[in-house]
Amino acid sequence: MEQSFIMIKPDGVQRGLVGEIISRFEKKGFYLKGMKLLTVEKSFAEKHYADLSAKPFFPGLVEYIVSGPVVAMVWEGKNVVVTGRKIIGATNPSDSAPGTIRGDLAIEVGRNVIHGSDSIESARKEIALWFPEGIAAWHSSQHPWIYE
Ligand code: GTP
Ligand code: MG
Repeated sequence: MEQSFIMIKPDGVQRGLVGEIISRFEKKGFYLKGMKLLTVEKSFAEKHYADLSAKPFFPGLVEYIVSGPVVAMVWEGKNVVVTGRKIIGATNPSDSAPGTIRGDLAIEVGRNVIHGSDSIESARKEIALWFPEGIAAWHSSQHPWIYE
């Protein structure tokens, strides 16, 4: 089944939003397939956001991501990449709808609490980058109550 890489950024961890964020993905019906708390190095953050390296905000973005521990996760489910981005909300919390994570829990684009893969291909690359050790295989007993 489809997987997405979701990361709670350092502000989300510092602000005690880890449980709230995980809960939203769990309640939707997605399955948590990998999770770890870690602080990444500058070179690793630069690799994760390599596509944005030419942007003027890139140095600040890298500083932000390395500023404290993050929670790296793999979530699985039907359309989890696109639906996960909807749960997260627009990049700039000023534009994120109420009911989304960023719409409810963030104010500034440079402190927007969470990352989600933007395509199935990005998810594949990001999961390989963040979980080179692989992820545990398990199957939820709730499956028939979530999928027809
Ligand atoms: P991610 O899920 O974190 O990848 O966000 P996104 O896919 O919604 O947006 P994008 O990949 O374009 O940007 C990555 C991150 O860079 C954003 O989540 C913001 O934290 C940051 N960012 C994007 N645009 C700006 C900007 O204009 N100013 C600042 N300060 N940060 C920005
Ligand atoms: Mg992005």
